[in-house]
Amino acid sequence: MRTPGRPASPRNPRPPQANPGIGGQDVAPLFLVVEGMDGAGKSTQIERLAAWLTEAGAEPVVTREPGATPIGAKIRDILLDPSHAEMDPRTEALLYAADRAQHAAKVIGPALAAGRVVISDRYVDSSLLWATRDLLPDLVILLDVSPELARGRAGTTDRIEQEAAAFHAQVSEAYRELARRYPDRFAMVDAEAAPEVVEREIRRRVEERFVARPAGSAR
Ligand SMILES: Nc1ncnc2c1ncn2[C@@H]1O[C@H](COP(=O)(O)OP(=O)(O)OP(=O)(O)O)[C@@H](O)[C@H]1O
Ligand SMILES: [Mg+2]
Repeated sequence: MRTPGRPASPRNPRPPQANPGIGGQDVAPLFLVVEGMDGAGKSTQIERLAAWLTEAGAEPVVTREPGATPIGAKIRDILLDPSHAEMDPRTEALLYAADRAQHAAKVIGPALAAGRVVISDRYVDSSLLWATRDLLPDLVILLDVSPELARGRAGTTDRIEQEAAAFHAQVSEAYRELARRYPDRFAMVDAEAAPEVVEREIRRRVEERFVARPAGSAR
């Protein structure tokens, strides 16, 4: 299925290249994003989804935000440094935007142009999601967990994870609101279940949205 409204752009050339995907269907180029709170299970599920796609003949490019490029890695260090507690929210948003610009230009765009499936561990901070319209994901898989469960799983202490519980609840609610507002782009998956159950649901949502396209349809 082709998602509506993707603007044509020189940075988003999307050649209709054949890729022997699942069940012989053409699944690439395809831009998937997995979002969720810290500890929601993104890394766990991306690894499983990538293995499944690889087995099916569509080995994906797995990437992440922030920090997927050499410049992005430095931006990530600035964002996560616990000594940067005074960081202004706009500074933070612009650092994410700078990381994303580099990521889109150097990693995601070229991979899609080469006819690959791309899976990004996060792509945009929820507040900026609809601000940049030149390279949007086909499907955002939102791993939905309660903030309490996510904190329990994550168990780390970088700057963002040290923020108050109230902030975590707000982030969680903001993700859900985005998924409600943009049902065509978001697949909200209950990620509190066992990893195998979450994995099955992600496959179902990916299959449902993209693999069931008529054979030969270009994205
Ligand atoms: N469905 C699940 N049920 C129980 N435990 C899980 C589940 N999924 C992941 N975990 C465990 O929770 C922890 C966090 O998972 P993971 O690293 O995949 O989350 P993440 O979303 O990538 O976190 P971060 O944002 O911090 O990178 C890991 O120890 C993982 O084994
Ligand atoms: Mg992770």
